[in-house]
Amino acid sequence: MNSIKEAFVVKVPCSTANLGPGFDSIGMALNRYLYLNFFPSDKLEITLYNEDRYEQNIPLDHNNLIIQVMKKAFAENHYSFPTFHLSIKNYIPLTRGLGSSAAAIVGGFIAANHIMGNPWNTDELFQRATRWEGHPDNVGPSLFGGVTIGSWDGEKATVFTCDPPDVPILAVIPDQVLFTKKAREVLPTSYTREEAILSSSRANLLTAALISKKWDLLSVAMKDRWHQPYRQNLVPGLKESLAEAHHNGAWGVALSGAGPTLIAFVKDMEQLQSYFHRLFSTLDVQMEMVAFEPVKEGAVVQLTAEKKCSTFVGNMIGV
Ligand code: HSE
Repeated sequence: MNSIKEAFVVKVPCSTANLGPGFDSIGMALNRYLYLNFFPSDKLEITLYNEDRYEQNIPLDHNNLIIQVMKKAFAENHYSFPTFHLSIKNYIPLTRGLGSSAAAIVGGFIAANHIMGNPWNTDELFQRATRWEGHPDNVGPSLFGGVTIGSWDGEKATVFTCDPPDVPILAVIPDQVLFTKKAREVLPTSYTREEAILSSSRANLLTAALISKKWDLLSVAMKDRWHQPYRQNLVPGLKESLAEAHHNGAWGVALSGAGPTLIAFVKDMEQLQSYFHRLFSTLDVQMEMVAFEPVKEGAVVQLTAEKKCSTFVGNMIGV
């Protein structure tokens, strides 16, 4: 096996998905990142940069998701797997509904693409990342940045991207994990016509609100009947927040991805923080509140200092 020739970094933002009724479709990039630092090496070596709570349980062998994705990308191009040292620096909470797996998938495809000399353009990366993840709502924002509205029919992913909202986001991250598989198992396999009409009309409102920046629509537009009501028993504070947060400093609130994190579009930060403090201490659930900003830039490849330039911007078509 040959080593990669030069060091580079892939920087991938985390994301929040669904935003309520945009189930498996709408997502938004946020300013916490996964950094994949690649260095030439004559053997394959994976290390953790921080070795803290955001890096616990990340496998350091061929079970690593980034490595599995890279393997698939190289195999598809009949490119033999090179050796390198990968140092993973992660600031995205794991299994909390902030797109940590999607960031790893996007990062793996972008890294492999870069090593192979960029045979795939951004849309081709998006198709592959969506196929791997099974839906485009986290991989879209991690790759393109901003807000993405995607549709996946099992064969082809189609995406619309728009600028992120200029509104602060407050996340409540409970001190408990929730695996997506479990959070999907509680969902019904069919919906009544009334439920489908209500949820799709809310998704229409949400899209209009995000594009036109009409935040006063969000208190209604972030409620749905696709998934949030069914996940309430798995997620502390979800039911109460959906009913009350817009009276307590939020424009709107939703379960972030499959949860258990809640995310709110903030109207009044102090009021909202004290509401969440009260709610979670009443529920006796430990949580961390994190303020995020939505970000416009998606995943990028940065060459190291010697080169002093960036070669790949995730949201440029045709790179
Ligand atoms: N749309 C997905 C869900 C996001 O809510 O299950 C998590 O992968």
